Amino acid sequence: MLAWGAVAPAQAAAPQKPARLGLCAACHGETGMAQIPGAPNLAGQQLDYLREALKQYRDGRRNVPLMRAAIGPMSDADLDELARWYSAQTPAHQGNP
Ligand code: HEC
Repeated sequence: MLAWGAVAPAQAAAPQKPARLGLCAACHGETGMAQIPGAPNLAGQQLDYLREALKQYRDGRRNVPLMRAAIGPMSDADLDELARWYSAQTPAHQGNP
């Protein structure tokens, strides 16, 4: 019963800002729009894709030192929270309207 109540709202409501978002914002922005050349936009990306990508960096299956350093030894729950956050963002227009 408790588990049911804990799971349902997470899918409906917009996710809360993750505590670790500050570790990512310098490069990906708080809303998933890249802040530095070479960093991908994450806003609105598929949740499964983001979650899997983060695990790949953490586990070394994607060997990108920048991203590995940013993630460090985060738990699955932390990565999930960040993936949900970025997936729920709306991509902003850049350049030409
Ligand atoms: C120092 C800059 C920097 C920081 C900090 C950083 N990233 Fe990245 N991130 C990058 C770069 C550069 C890439 C592209 C790496 C590659 O080629 O695989 C990337 C790739 C990614 C990808 C894969 C996107 C895709 O389309 O495959 C995800 C997801 C991601 N970052 C999430 C995060 C999260 C979450 C954090 C915070 C914990 C974070 N990043 C912190 C620079 C950064």
